[in-house]
Amino acid sequence: MNAQLTPAPAQGDLDAFWMPFTANRQFKANPRLLARAEGMYYWTADGREILDGVAGLWCVNAGHGRREITEAVTKQLGTMEYAPAFQMGHPIAFELANRLAKIAPPGLERIFFTNSGSESVDTALKIAIAYHRARGAGQRIRFIGREKGYHGVGFGGMSVGGMVNNRKVFGSSMLPGVDHLPHTLDVGNNAFSRGLPEWGAHLADALERLIALHDGSTIAAVIVEPIAGSAGVVLPPIGYLKRLREICDKHDILLIFDEVITGFGRVGKPFASQAFDVTPDLMTTAKGLTNGAIPMGAVFAHRKIYDAFMQGPENAIELFHGYTYSAHPVACAAALAALEVYTKEGLLTRAASLASEWENAVHSLRGLPHVIDVRNYGLIGAAELEPRAGKPGARGFEVFLKCFERGVMVRQTGDTIAMSPPLIIESKQIARIVETLGTAIREVG
Ligand SMILES: Cc1ncc(COP(=O)(O)O)c(C=O)c1O
Repeated sequence: MNAQLTPAPAQGDLDAFWMPFTANRQFKANPRLLARAEGMYYWTADGREILDGVAGLWCVNAGHGRREITEAVTKQLGTMEYAPAFQMGHPIAFELANRLAKIAPPGLERIFFTNSGSESVDTALKIAIAYHRARGAGQRIRFIGREKGYHGVGFGGMSVGGMVNNRKVFGSSMLPGVDHLPHTLDVGNNAFSRGLPEWGAHLADALERLIALHDGSTIAAVIVEPIAGSAGVVLPPIGYLKRLREICDKHDILLIFDEVITGFGRVGKPFASQAFDVTPDLMTTAKGLTNGAIPMGAVFAHRKIYDAFMQGPENAIELFHGYTYSAHPVACAAALAALEVYTKEGLLTRAASLASEWENAVHSLRGLPHVIDVRNYGLIGAAELEPRAGKPGARGFEVFLKCFERGVMVRQTGDTIAMSPPLIIESKQIARIVETLGTAIREVG
């Protein structure tokens, strides 16, 4: 227990922080301040216990306050707080990359470090373009994303992303040469599917049409989330990802999986690509990499991609890209400690053993007022609510607030409530999250 909590700021002191992805005026009128965390719980500044139903923001996979991570970070700060990774190296960056390569999907054994999911995505897009150029196919500069995709907030990620509110204000600043596949959410055909929906593999064939439109030889990469989280949990229909892989192979297009939320155990395997048995060429990660303790991201690249860059004079830089904090020693220490915890406690696969209990629990919400769909996979769940006439998102926001009042943190996107608890969750906590959400849905009406 941290006895010296920073006192909660007074109402007027909330003005200076322009909060990200937040209704600032609503929040500052009714703040929800988290002050302490341990295991499955947060405590608010006024001492209320909050069960964490979203692993912070899909990142605290091993639960809060892990002593092993704190100790590793503290030790690293005392040993060497910073070292550059440009033309220099430090041992634990290599140790971490080797460690990650061991749990990577087949062949994705070359690791580029970033500081966030957004940076991982922009890095992967740049690597894709530079890779084709290195092989003499410099005309491959187009990207295909997907409607409802979320790939962070950099200009690259925003352009390939497909969430309208994240795009519409910035319209003229999008990357040129980007097109989008249709999304795979279809409540009409797939409502209340348990696990992956049966209907919709054919939606991948839209890629053939985009290829016919632009010509395959102009396309660098297709980027999708194996499971989209931010848009309200959108699952891939059975066979859909395999089909995307086949079409990409046929046209020599790289396939990028954005595993920023699905990585590090969320779906019962280290990565969703392993759970779905479809291997991309590049994979973006962040969040669970350090258990959320220190910002860090990693792009996993197939060996063939890395090898394509390793030509020309040996003293020449092969990829003109990187961040001051790429492979930051403190982040590397946090990631190594997180991986150690994940491995020791079996957390990279634990979601698989909880999946059916989780599925039954979240599907118990079926039949409650205004619940039009329930979706689940691994330790991911979502309940979609019917929007109020003319007020999209209002019902979802009220349900989110009610859950918080009742001591459970969930995540709201529009009228969908998403859940992605830490992978250490126990049965009674699964029950409490779902019961609280059910009560909130009834109360809000
Ligand atoms: C799939 C996906 N990609 C990228 C990002 C962006 O990550 P970050 O917020 O660390 O930049 C997110 C964040 O939620 C995400 O879910």
